Amino acid sequence: MTKNKLDYETLKFLYEIGINEVVEPSPTDKRMFPKELTKLKKDNLMASKVKSSSKSVSPQQYETHNFKVHVESSNDQARQAKTLEELRNLVENFNMCPLKKTATNTVFSDGNSKAKIMVIGEAPGADEDRQGLPFVGLSGKLLDRMFAAIGLDRTTIYITNIIPWRPPGNRQPTLSETNLCLPFVQRHIELVSPEFLILVGGTAAKSILQTTEGIMKLRGRWLTYQTPIMAKPIQTLATFHPAYLLRAPGQKRLAWLDLLMLKEAINHSN
Ligand code: URA
Repeated sequence: MTKNKLDYETLKFLYEIGINEVVEPSPTDKRMFPKELTKLKKDNLMASKVKSSSKSVSPQQYETHNFKVHVESSNDQARQAKTLEELRNLVENFNMCPLKKTATNTVFSDGNSKAKIMVIGEAPGADEDRQGLPFVGLSGKLLDRMFAAIGLDRTTIYITNIIPWRPPGNRQPTLSETNLCLPFVQRHIELVSPEFLILVGGTAAKSILQTTEGIMKLRGRWLTYQTPIMAKPIQTLATFHPAYLLRAPGQKRLAWLDLLMLKEAINHSN
């Protein structure tokens, strides 16, 4: 086997398992160094079972520490936004989420911010990352068709995601990443103040509703969402993500039932 052939095969394998982004020109050693270890100890964040040896602190513990600090920051920043434009600026200038480093664009929203219906998805994919708009790829086309079936389009709905930056290789965002971005989405919902909230997919549903229940249990019934500053709760419906429906078309029947629930609720709203 020639060297080029081996390189090609390796790249092909990496691509197939979803690693299709070059993050840094060379690998980074993510093991713990004494300075960071001392800070962790000082902040009292080391689990008691962790021995005071630099080898015994895992990268996960270090990541948890960093994300905790960053979540406080995203929370503080999100609260400052008084308008959608201010929120967009804050999100675009927020540099504490590692996903931003590998993304081409920040994907903030699309559609009509005055609409009664706010749709929240998971995270941008490759097409969304390129265009800077949510749901413009294959699953976006299906999402458009689903809403068109009950007479809605992007002039009558408003769309955003839990995560505004594409995770490399379209992997699922981690819990740390969704928690980090959540304060921005919560503020986003407060500022749009829609009548109906539609959570597409398990990631959006679990994150917004702060539950570990899966989408199968959450979908198909009206739920409520409220933050402390909201005057009243928002009627909330969780449904399948269109990317899942593309893989499992047999589930479109249930998604259709969810859409009919939404249509009926809209018909009865003022
Ligand atoms: N999937 C999502 O959840 N959001 C997008 O914007 C695109 C695909």
